[in-house]
Amino acid sequence: MKRLLIVANLPSANTQTLAQAVLTGARHPEVSGVQSTLRDALDATAEDVFDADAIILGTTENFGLLSGRLKDFLERIYYPCLERTEGKPWALYVRAGNDGEGAVRSVERIVTGLCWRATQPALVLSGEWRDGFPDQAKELGMTIAAGLELGSI
Ligand SMILES: Cc1cc2nc3c(=O)[nH]c(=O)nc-3n(C[C@H](O)[C@H](O)[C@H](O)COP(=O)(O)O)c2cc1C
Repeated sequence: MKRLLIVANLPSANTQTLAQAVLTGARHPEVSGVQSTLRDALDATAEDVFDADAIILGTTENFGLLSGRLKDFLERIYYPCLERTEGKPWALYVRAGNDGEGAVRSVERIVTGLCWRATQPALVLSGEWRDGFPDQAKELGMTIAAGLELGSI
């Protein structure tokens, strides 16, 4: 059984909906060989990262950057994970009121240092909330979990 870890900051009902949608997609009935877990960025640890075969990070854009909670997570795991988690497949989704580009750039810059392997471009869910956002988040979870099961990511 492979393991997928989803780490997100969850400051609002919408961001909780998105994270749950990613998890639901990852737990698609046809993806039976992957165990998926959602952790609040405040609680997630380096051990969680060691145990994971792939990681999805989720953040809001705050002050044009990643959220403080996701940054705190990355600060706590950075040195424990450095040189122990190289090549780990990862993906990112961002919820932003504006364009979300600052959040994408800031997460990617940090993760570049960890030498994780990006599986796809970031999913950015920006502007006014749209009813289709959870479906996009669900698809992300399903895509990464299916890729992990198939060994294609
Ligand atoms: C302190 C703070 C700073 C924020 N800065 C930005 C920002 O720079 N760019 C942006 O697009 N949204 C910004 N936001 C909005 C968040 O991204 C927004 O709360 C998040 O997307 C969740 O939105 P929703 O729950 O209303 O869908 C900020 C929110 C807070 C609380």
